[in-house]
Amino acid sequence: MLKLGVNIDHVATLREARYRGQSGGEPSPVEAARMCEAAGAHGITAHLREDRRHIQDHDILDLREKIETRLNLEMANLPEIIAVALKVRPAIVCIVPERRQEVTTEGGLDVVAAEKSLAEMRMKMNDAGIEVSLFIAPDESQIAAAARTGAQFIELHTGRFAEHFSKSGISTVASERELQRLVSGAQQAQALGLKVNAGHGLNYDNLPALFRVPHLVELNIGHSLVSRAVFTGLQKAVHEMLALMKGYGA
Ligand code: PXP
Repeated sequence: MLKLGVNIDHVATLREARYRGQSGGEPSPVEAARMCEAAGAHGITAHLREDRRHIQDHDILDLREKIETRLNLEMANLPEIIAVALKVRPAIVCIVPERRQEVTTEGGLDVVAAEKSLAEMRMKMNDAGIEVSLFIAPDESQIAAAARTGAQFIELHTGRFAEHFSKSGISTVASERELQRLVSGAQQAQALGLKVNAGHGLNYDNLPALFRVPHLVELNIGHSLVSRAVFTGLQKAVHEMLALMKGYGA
């Protein structure tokens, strides 16, 4: 069965928009994670960025303690964040590239260029009982390099597929081409003994097309779930506020 890892970064984005630097603000990523688990999610993903723009260190500690499925810590291959991972010991880390100016993770890792340091990091994580996944584009040389690092998983970057798909709301020549790259990438990875996850930009419209990609273990989805939740939840939230306002007696 295809598993769902829910990326809860944007719950923290919402909290930071109002409560940055304060403790106990809402909405709580941990509460959101527990709700996702109760709804059947198989795992929780959170990205501790170097600039701490959404998820904070205390969120990671809290998630590790309070969730019942498994924590996938998304992170850059940086000494400071590696130290956090080794302290928290999530079930798995997903290594992503990070640029300070980007809105979200924009490209895949260049594993070819960073093979040695990624292999070293992979060994440290595995020695601590943490599995390693590398977030990469469906590119033959990157997948081959990922296998050489000894990583257990790759996460195929579906951003380009999603970007081309969503422009017209249906599949396009470009999204079909990206889909083919994902299919070949998944086949290559499986043949090399890598387990295959996928994520980035997946939503309720483009997901069915992705089912043509073989060997997928888990999808990591964040933004479209949080966006959908705004609309499935807003009506109830307004009803509850109006009910409370009925208590005004003047
Ligand atoms: N996987 C990785 C490695 C990511 O960096 C992200 C974005 O944080 C996601 C999955 C989730 O992407 P989205 O929020 O577009 O669903």
